[in-house]
Amino acid sequence: MGSFSFSSIVKLSLFFLILSDSVPRIQGLPGVGINYGQIANNLPSPSRVSVLLRSLNISRVKLYDTDPVVLSAFSNSNVDFIIGLGNEYLENMTDPAKAQSWIQQRLQPHLPQTRITCILVGNEVFKGEDTKLYSYLLPAMQTVYKTLVDLGLDKQVIVTSAHSLDILANSFPPSAGSFRQDLAVYIQPILSFHSQVKSPFLINAYPYFAYKDSPNQVPLDYVLFQPNQGTTDPITNLKYDNMLYAQIDAVYSAMKAMGHTDIEVRISETGWPSKGDENEAGATVENAELYNGNLLKRIQQKQGTPGKPSVPVDVYFFALFNENLKPGPTSERNYGLYYPNGNPVYNIGIKGYLPEMDYSSASPKIKILPVCLSLLIYVIAYLIYA
Ligand SMILES: *[C@@H]1O[C@H](CO)[C@@H](O)[C@H](O)[C@H]1NC(C)=O
Ligand SMILES: *[C@@H]1O[C@H](CO)[C@@H](O)[C@H](O)[C@H]1NC(C)=O
Repeated sequence: MGSFSFSSIVKLSLFFLILSDSVPRIQGLPGVGINYGQIANNLPSPSRVSVLLRSLNISRVKLYDTDPVVLSAFSNSNVDFIIGLGNEYLENMTDPAKAQSWIQQRLQPHLPQTRITCILVGNEVFKGEDTKLYSYLLPAMQTVYKTLVDLGLDKQVIVTSAHSLDILANSFPPSAGSFRQDLAVYIQPILSFHSQVKSPFLINAYPYFAYKDSPNQVPLDYVLFQPNQGTTDPITNLKYDNMLYAQIDAVYSAMKAMGHTDIEVRISETGWPSKGDENEAGATVENAELYNGNLLKRIQQKQGTPGKPSVPVDVYFFALFNENLKPGPTSERNYGLYYPNGNPVYNIGIKGYLPEMDYSSASPKIKILPVCLSLLIYVIAYLIYA
């Protein structure tokens, strides 16, 4: 039968079907976002990744920078991008001229063909020791926002930042959530900004860290969304069956204590490592599969938290791929849902397709071509093998 086997014919036609927009996909992740981290030297090309994400029906991606190769590979796709404006730019972004040139060089060339809907100004700024950065954050957000207004882009691109949960002084019970006192002077006006421009407050939340730090105190089932007795907030009487929802409600309470009930909380990163060092309790494939799989199911059910039952939990999973060049403990390099070759690290009920080679992305005008090609291939396969 030579090298052109029936299975390779089926694979090839499957690929063309995925390229075309015209077949319903049964397995998909509507409404789910994913972090596309690239600290690795073995990742597939962005155009292959665009096919993978399309096969998964993932239409929300968060990038840590403005990699033009990625943004171009996703032109004419249905993917909404959050792009990152790194901490190293914050000081310059307080200068309107520099903010304008950043936007004109990094953002505008990709609009509208790539759907960039959000700029994340700074990442976990308050986690670092550099207090100068603390004071640049709000002015940078304001200047970027003003520039978008001047360019007429503020309706399509929103401005926010992402914070680590370390900004909380207290996170339990959720109703007693509060921001760190030393950060209040920065966070209070940042909340006013969010309220004024109507953008969400983003947090990177990892119940895994809480478990890893106290594996004997924190019940594993509670952090993994497994059946468990849960905890009850003694003030509100609300029952929590998982830590992530308690963390989200703690942020809502912290904002409320600063006078804001008008800002939505979203999760810009969450995940669980599938591998870790000996001292990293809980970093296993089984736990990562449970954490991400269980959370995914809840998102598909559009669950809200006990404190905000009508606001569906909104998550960007961390991360798309294992990243082999990330420094730090072993867990850091093992947060991916996928290996760089496109195989899933574990099964959370979704199967993607990473093409073996780089096909340059088809122009939307010729979308009918892949359908015709796959039909043709089916017919040929039928004639040969039937
Ligand atoms: C794919 O995602 C879109 C938008 O998120 C959704 O409307 C659509 O129903 C999804 N399709 C399938 C087959 O999952
Ligand atoms: C900030 O601006 C200065 C002066 O224009 C420039 O030399 C520097 O490279 C900029 N920093 C970054 C991180 O772009």
